[in-house]
Amino acid sequence: MFNKRVKIKDAVRMAAGEEQITVMGWVRTFRNNQFVALNDGSSNDNLQVVLELGRFDETLLKKVTTGASIKATGRLLESPGKGQNVELKAESVEILGESDPEKFPLQPKKHSLEFLREIAHLRFRTNTFGSVFRIRHGLAFATHQFFNEKGFVYLHTPVITASDAEGAGEMFKVTTLPFDNTPRTEAGEVNFKEDFFGRATNLTVSGQLEGELAAMGFAEIYTFGPTFRAENSNTARHLAEFWMIEPEMAFYDLEDNMDLAEAYIRYLIGYALKNNRADLEFLDQRLADEEKLKPQAERSGQGLIEKLESVVSQDFQRITYTEAIDILLQSPFYKKKKFKYDVAWGIDLQSEHERYLVEKHFKKPVIVTGYPKAIKAFYMRQNDDGKTVAAMDILAPGIGEIVGGSQREERLDKLMERMQEMHIPADQMWWYLDTRRFGTVPHSGFGLGFERMVQFVSGMTNIRDVIAFPRTPGNSEF
Ligand code: 4AD
Ligand code: MG
Repeated sequence: MFNKRVKIKDAVRMAAGEEQITVMGWVRTFRNNQFVALNDGSSNDNLQVVLELGRFDETLLKKVTTGASIKATGRLLESPGKGQNVELKAESVEILGESDPEKFPLQPKKHSLEFLREIAHLRFRTNTFGSVFRIRHGLAFATHQFFNEKGFVYLHTPVITASDAEGAGEMFKVTTLPFDNTPRTEAGEVNFKEDFFGRATNLTVSGQLEGELAAMGFAEIYTFGPTFRAENSNTARHLAEFWMIEPEMAFYDLEDNMDLAEAYIRYLIGYALKNNRADLEFLDQRLADEEKLKPQAERSGQGLIEKLESVVSQDFQRITYTEAIDILLQSPFYKKKKFKYDVAWGIDLQSEHERYLVEKHFKKPVIVTGYPKAIKAFYMRQNDDGKTVAAMDILAPGIGEIVGGSQREERLDKLMERMQEMHIPADQMWWYLDTRRFGTVPHSGFGLGFERMVQFVSGMTNIRDVIAFPRTPGNSEF
């Protein structure tokens, strides 16, 4: 068997002993022709592999370079060096893959995140991205654990669909029609009848509508999959392809919905604090070092772990949209004209407004409910005031909107009325309306942007640094 190896994460914690072990990994550094710092991605800990002087021939030693992959077998000895308990005294070393030190882009020094994005295929081999992606994995695992413990059914919703769930029209088309000689109708429009599905299709912007269908049978479901938005926003919080978790629950009103979303977010953070401690400590230190370079006024003054612990231990603030607008209008920020966008009842909250509410005013996550119906999707339940809907957004410090959700409109007449007003083609959505025709129930759901959640937990400021291969306007490399 080739791969009988001990993970380096475990090896560094083992006691020195007589037994031989084998490790494999990538060389981070090689000092004094003797000391290899070896990493295999199981944690940020490197194992020091010692190549005793005179024991290995020169041609082999020349190939032990940063980025090369090696297999080393030997015994663990107590290490006289500082920073480690044990080191591996190599008895045999095999070069698995060479790495030309002249050409390897990831030299052992500090690189900017922007540079690392250009070599995203190699950035997994850095401590920062090691930590970020292990945390991402942990949050994905914890998501399934959370919903599984509550008896939710994990539903896989389609990636290709003919519906625009959000009605926002920010969709990537899916077609096999040729671009030259495109088949046309007599009226000169593209004839989608000749397309693969016999109609126009797109990549999904949300699995919610299909999720609602399943919730009308299982009562509680969740989705966790990729979603696509062709919005041309080049910000640190938007991706064209992102992952979303969308629970959908029958017999839940808006309050039940908020309780679930809050419990879920706190569960994720609690999971990371417990299971990704070393990686969080690494990122905490990294952020602290970055903070030191900032002018005093821009420093957050709160460490990453401290922030996460405070979020786990306190209830989120719950306010209505109308209260949020009042707070903004009365804020010193507004009075000193520091907001770029104007504030008035009816506006869609801009990220500067959201951040003011969470970072300056409440200093903790905030759930805003009761948005004006004009700025929200057609499926949200209309409130009795005729102006607002039973929507809820969760806003997080440093991120802004992390969750969007609502109680759904379960009354067929109200739903159809709203669809008509918003020009949503009801005839094509017969299947969605059927759930309101046959055994409709009060129900609710929300969507959590997974990358924004990873950003929040890891403290990474740019969303491009929490997904392996980001898709943004103009970027589809790798
Ligand atoms: O608020 P959104 O658009 O809501 C929905 O899609 C609903 N169907 C969800 C539901 O009720 N089932 O998106 C939900 C969340 C946002 O709060 C945000 O965290 C994330 O998805 N999100 C994005 N994340 C990264 N890049 C983008 N372009 C995003 N757009 C939304
Ligand atoms: Mg939203």
